[in-house]
Amino acid sequence: GMPARVRIHEVGPRDGLQNEQTVVPVADKAEFVRRLAAAGLGTVEATSFVHPRWVPQLADAAELYELLAADPALRGVDLPVLVPNDRGLDRALELGARHVAVFASATESFARANLNRTVEESLAMFEPVAERAVAADARVRGYVSMCFGDPWEGAVPVEQVVRVCRALRDMGCAEISLGDTIGVATPGQVEALLAGLGAAGIGPDVLAVHFHDTYGQALSNTLTALRNGVTTVDASAGGLGGCPYARSATGNLATEDLLWMLRGLGIETGVDLDRLAATSGWMATRLGRPSPSRTVRALSVP
Ligand code: HMG
Ligand code: MG
Repeated sequence: GMPARVRIHEVGPRDGLQNEQTVVPVADKAEFVRRLAAAGLGTVEATSFVHPRWVPQLADAAELYELLAADPALRGVDLPVLVPNDRGLDRALELGARHVAVFASATESFARANLNRTVEESLAMFEPVAERAVAADARVRGYVSMCFGDPWEGAVPVEQVVRVCRALRDMGCAEISLGDTIGVATPGQVEALLAGLGAAGIGPDVLAVHFHDTYGQALSNTLTALRNGVTTVDASAGGLGGCPYARSATGNLATEDLLWMLRGLGIETGVDLDRLAATSGWMATRLGRPSPSRTVRALSVP
């Protein structure tokens, strides 16, 4: 069966903007988060407390988070932030963050590229982060990248993903987001991974799915996940998350495309599609190019 309601974990300000070459002014980022929340998104992943050399676009994380935390319009809005290590967690907790995310990889190649660590070393780096966050009463999400395919290693075995998910669960992650970082997954793989995780005691109630639309499969994969019990879906307003003119880098599932499907299926989200599309249109003018979301484009036809 299908769920009556889906919770959208909006990642536009973080995953969407992190690859943008031109730095977006902090005031525009804050306005983006405000407009996303005003459209009805209850969870808006705001930024990352990572090394600024690794993600220059998010070097303003502290400044942005301070603006958001001080904004009465955002009271009650869940604003998760990425933290790779103790240093990142310290910075986030100091500013009052209540929800943090660590980000693991199912493959050695991506762990090396993204975290400068092996998979084991990165899990060891996350363990104290998760424990300290839980002790501070913060919620912890665990991302797993390259759950289906990896650009260097090819297809990723289910057992490899299950092992990383289990480690994240054991260290205290309340939710695990399954990332198809390069957007190569197809629905049969999604079903197989969810079955493998279920058999390992990791059910859809603690899972989220995080699809990228490189091969146009993001919605088919999402629908498959919903049919298999998942009710939390990551998406990025306007499909931000990679330059549409670069072959290798494409965006996350667009929140508007997801909403169009869910609305058609009669599934509640609490999000106003027109307001959201207007927000993505606004951000597209800031970035100087049209949104890659099919739904945003369709809705803005005069
Ligand atoms: P490293 O170079 O191994 O770091 O990077 P280190 O621990 O050796 O420290 C080196 C320097 O960084 C030191 O400073 C530290 O203080 C500093 P120095 O002495 O050289 O002046 N440092 C920090 N500064 C600020 N904030 C921190 C921090 N930590 C150390 N938190 C590290 C290791 C993890 C830091 C680095 O690899 C990193 O920042 N990686 C982040 C990469 C990233 O953000 N990637 C994008 C997010 S993942 C993603 O997008 C996928 C996802 O969307 C799901 C999907 O689609 O699959 C989630
Ligand atoms: Mg992503």
